[in-house]
Amino acid sequence: MTARTSLTIVLAAGEGTRMRTSIPKVLHPIAGESMLAHVLASAPHGDGADVAVVIGPDHDAVEREAKRLRPNADIFVQHERLGTAHAVLAARPAIARGADDLLVAFGDTPLITADTFARMRAPLAAGAAIAVLGFRAADPTGYGRLLMDGSKLVAIREQADASEAERAITLCNAGVMALAGRHALAILDKISNANKKGEYYLVDAVAIARELGLDAVVIETSEDEVRGINTKAQLAQAEAAMQTRLRQAAMEAGVTLIAPETVFLAADTTFGRDVTIEPFVVIGPGVSIGDGAIVHSFSHIVQSRLGSKTLLGPFARLRPGTSMGDGAKIGNFVEAKAAVLEPGVKVNHLSYIGDAHVGANANIGAGTITCNYDGFNKYKTVIGEGAFIGTNTSLVAPINIGARAYIGSGSVITRDVPDDALALERSPQTTREGAAARFRSAKQRQKK
Ligand code: UD1
Ligand code: MG
Repeated sequence: MTARTSLTIVLAAGEGTRMRTSIPKVLHPIAGESMLAHVLASAPHGDGADVAVVIGPDHDAVEREAKRLRPNADIFVQHERLGTAHAVLAARPAIARGADDLLVAFGDTPLITADTFARMRAPLAAGAAIAVLGFRAADPTGYGRLLMDGSKLVAIREQADASEAERAITLCNAGVMALAGRHALAILDKISNANKKGEYYLVDAVAIARELGLDAVVIETSEDEVRGINTKAQLAQAEAAMQTRLRQAAMEAGVTLIAPETVFLAADTTFGRDVTIEPFVVIGPGVSIGDGAIVHSFSHIVQSRLGSKTLLGPFARLRPGTSMGDGAKIGNFVEAKAAVLEPGVKVNHLSYIGDAHVGANANIGAGTITCNYDGFNKYKTVIGEGAFIGTNTSLVAPINIGARAYIGSGSVITRDVPDDALALERSPQTTREGAAARFRSAKQRQKK
């Protein structure tokens, strides 16, 4: 038997007016990825799995985001907001290609999982025309109610059109619907706008399917998975739910989180074996952490790689493009950016290492600064393997420090230093015997 083909339509035409921002709603991030990215990541992938995204007018940024994640996605613009069924039909050319399974998801419901999409498709393979994702709402107000006859779904009633008795139903429509491709257009084209809001409601597909003698069923899931995001407060709740999920997955994969609720992860964070993350660590997108690494408290990491057995922090900041080789160590109050540290490098305290390449086992003393910016351009610092940079050194880039070179403390280094050389840039020291004592007694006499 060949695998069933699918088309997932993501409705992303929402304005996000209640978010009170100028950014389209579905581009708001959760765990470092846009809401739209989360939905597209969970939607079916691979051969025979097509995606269409329905966007609002002038939402070029939403189109770019969709194409970034699914380059083959079809983009359709819904020019007027006439309802969810109207939005689905904006993708008519894609629907007409006739995939076996048509899946409709909302771009503002980002916690939906791949497993749920798979569960929705199973009844279609077994002959149902429609599967609706349902959940038991703590407060059903505003949701479409699922009207059941035994295990069969009879209709979905929107809040505005529901009777008193129907409003008491807590089994609600999550918004995700799966339709058998061969019936989809026949059903969708029968949907009218004869309701209180005058909108074309996708949910009416259920009653229409029943009239055609076709079956509709409900697949249940938890309310947490299907929360729709309309406000910044709901965005924060979804972030919290996603963080809980990511922490759980990290711990199941063997990561030690001492205080999980204080550690923030990104959806794409990857971990090796025996990683420990101490309390209060923030990890942004694009971070990989190797075997046996320890991230101490209050560290902030974005788009960086930590090799195996690396130590980071406490109070360290890794900005994009930082790579720590195996066994490298970055200590407290160190900032690194676009810096490649080869294995065994130590930057233990109070330094800025930016636009730099540091050779294996080099030791960077406290207070070392790579002066990479002259107000106009950025320049590179290259430090050879085994070099020793004395404390409080300024390395004025572009600059090359040779392998095993030694830089005296407090130097401002502006010219290249060859391999094995000692460089020192410092005014001569003057020492006057007894001068401190004389100064102190003179001051004491003045005060009397
Ligand atoms: C919808 C469902 C309701 C369900 C609830 C779950 C319908 C008619 N109602 O109601 O049964 O309980 O979701 O959250 O489907 N959209 C468009 N174009 C439109 C209208 C909507 O793209 O013309 C998109 C929105 O951006 C959003 C989604 O469709 O992503 C749902 O629309 P929304 O207005 O939020 O519907 P609800 O009233 O929440
Ligand atoms: Mg909604």
